[in-house]
Formats: sequence, C-alpha cells, structure tokens
Amino acid sequence: MSGDRVLDDAGALAANDPSGMLDAVLGLPGQCRDGFRSGREAADLPSGDGVTGMVVCGMGGSGVAGDVVDALYRGRLGVPAVVSKGPELPEFCGKDTLVVASSYSGDTSETLACFEVATGRGCRVVAVTSGGELGRRARERGVAVVPVRAGFQPRAAVGHLAFGLLGALEAMGVIPSLGVEVERVARVLQELGERLGPESPASGNPAKSAAAAIGDRFPVVWGAEGIGAVAATRWRTELNENAKVPAFAGVLPELDHNEVVGWSPGAGERFVLLTLRHPLEHPDVAARFPVSVDVARSSGMLHREVRAEGDTPLSCLMSLLMLGSAVSVYLAALRGVDPTPIDAISRIKRELGG
Ligand code: PA5
Repeated sequence: MSGDRVLDDAGALAANDPSGMLDAVLGLPGQCRDGFRSGREAADLPSGDGVTGMVVCGMGGSGVAGDVVDALYRGRLGVPAVVSKGPELPEFCGKDTLVVASSYSGDTSETLACFEVATGRGCRVVAVTSGGELGRRARERGVAVVPVRAGFQPRAAVGHLAFGLLGALEAMGVIPSLGVEVERVARVLQELGERLGPESPASGNPAKSAAAAIGDRFPVVWGAEGIGAVAATRWRTELNENAKVPAFAGVLPELDHNEVVGWSPGAGERFVLLTLRHPLEHPDVAARFPVSVDVARSSGMLHREVRAEGDTPLSCLMSLLMLGSAVSVYLAALRGVDPTPIDAISRIKRELGG
C-alpha cells in the first residue's frame, strides 16, 4: 500500500497499533486535566515555604515532566531548578530543597537511587508515580505521592506525569497559579487532536503529512532553546521509541556554533530536517532559523517546518509534544512497526535489574 493509503486507512492504522498508542496520544487533553487535578489534590505535600531549590529526578518518559517544568519556568522561579537524569542527586540538595522523584513504573533504578539519597538527607520529597517500588517506599516513609493512572507506556502518560507535577507545584506555592490556563491548553489540544486523528485525511492532517515527509529519511529535529529544545528532544525520543528509527535533535542558537558545520554538501542526503517553531521564541533566536535551515538544505537535507498551536508557553509546548507523538505513531504505521513495544529498553532493564 502507498504511504497516503496506509495513513488514510483507519483499519490498517488500528491493525498496526494493537495496544492503542495513537489513542493515548490523542487523549492528551484529558490527561492534562486529570493529571493537574491529581497533583493539586495530592495528600500531605511538603510545604513550599522557604524552598531554596528544586530538583526533578526522572528518566526517559518520566523525566519529560521535569523538562516541561524547566521549559516553562527556567530562570523565572525565585529559586534554581534542575532536572536530574541519572543516579546521583546533586550535592546541594538538603532539607530546604524540593526533590521530585518522577517514575511512571516506580521501578527505575536511577530515580530510586535519587529518592533514597533525598529521603536520607531530609529533603522535601514528592513522588510522582503509578506505584511500583517508589510508590511502596514513599508510602512506607510518609512521602507525598502524586498518583498517576496505571496502564500506559510511560512516554504515553506525559500529560498525567507533567500536569501531576505542575498541579503539585502549584499547590505547594512553588510555581505561580496556572489558573484557567490548564483548561485553555486542554481545549487547544482537543481542537488539535481533531485534526491529527486517524479519520482526518493526510492532505489536511499535519501529523500524517509530516510522517509522510520523513518517509525513509532519518529525522533531525531542531527547536529554539527552552520550549523548542524540550519539544525537539521529545520528538527525537518519540521517533526512536514509537517509529523505531534513529533520530537527532538540535537546539538553536547553540547548533549554529557547531552542528551546522557537519551539514556539509552531500552529508544531509539521507536526512530530513523538521524545525519546530512557536511565536514566543526570542527574536534573536528566531532570526537564526532561515540561514541555519539554508545551510542544512545545502547539505541535501529536505526541510519541513512545524508550527505550535496557541500563544502561551504551555499551549506552544504541549501542542508541539502532541504533534511529535502523533507523527511518530504515523511513521510507525508507514514502516509497518507496532509503536508500543520497546524491546531494547526492556532488555537493558532486565539485564541490569531496573
Ligand atoms: O519510554 C520509556 O518507557 C522509558 O523512557 C521510561 O520512561 C524510562 O525507562 C523510565 O521508566 P519509568 O518512566 O517507569 O521511570
């Protein structure tokens, strides 16, 4: 079957996706609402008064929750905030540091290691999890838990995880109140989801058409620092895990100081560049896209621009995340691979015990 025919055949799409990854992706608006409520209402959250710093610990699909907070609030909170993606808790963490352990399964070794050190040092700890060992240890030690709905792949629970964290941070007074913004972003995503769904034909469906544009080439995804950077990295990981392809992410302006040199004539012939754009980019960074893309195109790369929906940081970020996930599932369909299994990750966890 040709590309467009596969993408416009609802039966073929469903057969290729027996565990319902696309449904989970399109369910993002509901996840944002539910996650936020769950975070806001979590019992026994530590006080945010006098917090001097925040660390969000989490790997892969669960670490994205920290990236979302980082993209939205970097440099805008009164205290430093760090996302930690490894087994070591930063040395500065003490009793006035808020440490969030984010693990969907609750069984990830790096996150559990940070949780152990954080509770040992008397940090103000919150666990965001669907259960597992993290849930068990948190309950045993009286650590607050933001409960996350079970039954998803971690990466497909990004709305529950990120908005659960945002709701808890709001309830602790660590971030300013999001007020009606959560409902507003959920509506933006709902409207976007209608255009991204399986019934929406490739000709007018931005996710199907981006997947078709990638085709057999390797995707390179660029975004502007902050929101665009987090979105580009998330596109890369969704393309890796759902479509099972190597993919690469770069951030402007940094890539103008190194990566562009690698895109020498001929080097880009097997690649396609996707630039993720939004209206809140710093003007100096926005101004760099045309010439940077021009360099990339001279290497033989194809180029496609993808634009965020809405005009707030949260809607720009979440719409780009939703678009990337949908593109990765449609690319999986074009490649005839089931988006859900992640055999390599499972094997490594099995061999290393978590
Ligand atoms: O997508 C995935 O399944 C992974 O990236 C996981 O999120 C990662 O291995 C961490 O696991 P967990 O999210 O359960 O802590």
